[in-house]
Amino acid sequence: MRQAGRYMAEYRSLRERYSLLDLCRTPDLATEVTLQPIRRIDVDAAILFSDLLLPLEPMGIRFDFVEGEGPVVDEPLRHDADLARVRRFDPRDRLGYVLEAVRQISRALDGRVPLIGFAGAPFTLASYAIEGGHSSSFAHTKALMYGAPEAWHRFCDLLADIIADYLIAQVEAGVDAVQVFDSWVGALNAADYREFILPHTRRIFSRLADDPVASRVPTIHFGVGTGAILGEIRDAGGDVIGADWRTPLDEAWARIGSDRAIQGNLDPTVLLGPLDRIFAATDDVLARASGRPGHIFNLGHGILPSTPVEHVQALARYVHQKTRG
Ligand code: CP3
Repeated sequence: MRQAGRYMAEYRSLRERYSLLDLCRTPDLATEVTLQPIRRIDVDAAILFSDLLLPLEPMGIRFDFVEGEGPVVDEPLRHDADLARVRRFDPRDRLGYVLEAVRQISRALDGRVPLIGFAGAPFTLASYAIEGGHSSSFAHTKALMYGAPEAWHRFCDLLADIIADYLIAQVEAGVDAVQVFDSWVGALNAADYREFILPHTRRIFSRLADDPVASRVPTIHFGVGTGAILGEIRDAGGDVIGADWRTPLDEAWARIGSDRAIQGNLDPTVLLGPLDRIFAATDDVLARASGRPGHIFNLGHGILPSTPVEHVQALARYVHQKTRG
């Protein structure tokens, strides 16, 4: 999940001086922000500070983050001819600043906690490129998917290669695990997931498995609102499947299957409430995991900016107290 961010005063103070893209593109700053939660919260892993949209720019899709609005793409891809113009690129060349941040962060962490790298999955990345920003219906994306299936499949095939190239480069630079975020894929029903997304996301995981270096690190596959398609997400790949907070953890794990690990799934908004409620909700998640190996405790999605940092600190301490022998 997003771990660094606006709920931390030290992040907000850096953001007064730098834009989000400046933080992502400057290895010293990305290193500093990655380490902020590690210093303050008893978490077991660091998450590379970056953003899922960075590969859009070298693909030829310009965008910016607009205050209060989120990401905005200059010229969204709306026709099959637009999809065909997108190009593959070498992440070592065009996203070298991310890889340099990974090297710096690995040195700074010095093995204290592992570092998780990440990238967006085809549906989520395609939806930003096509919608141009936030969407609740994904109407443009689905119109292209249903209306120009051949162009859609060629585009997602290309996205899968771009994402796999990028994740392999992150592992080579030093990340200890990779997470594939298909944040918005819950917008698809199971049949559409199988037809339009599964082959492409599967290609990412099989390229990672076939790579001599990337195959050494565990992979995590996460989406939001995926209760109805957890079986399909599992089939697409991932050693660990991320569950959002809507499905009780034991039900989610039953759908995923006992041969995979699960990550999740405390409702992040519970952190806005008092500590006794946070601890009760945490007890519920842990009871549903029932001490089985292969549960990674996490939130079911990112932390909201108004979350008190003391609540996040107390949560991490509480989980350790309940789970460490
Ligand atoms: O240190 C970390 O925890 C890593 C941080 C991280 C960011 N983006 C930085 C960021 C991660 C893991 C991401 C991934 C990402 N980016 C996702 C997938 C994860 C998810 O939440 O589902 C998505 C969908 C994006 C695209 C994105 N970036 C959106 C929609 C927004 C705007 C929404 C918002 O919260 O304002 C962003 C902005 C963004 N990326 C922030 C951070 C910390 C917000 C803070 C800021 O504006 O400074």
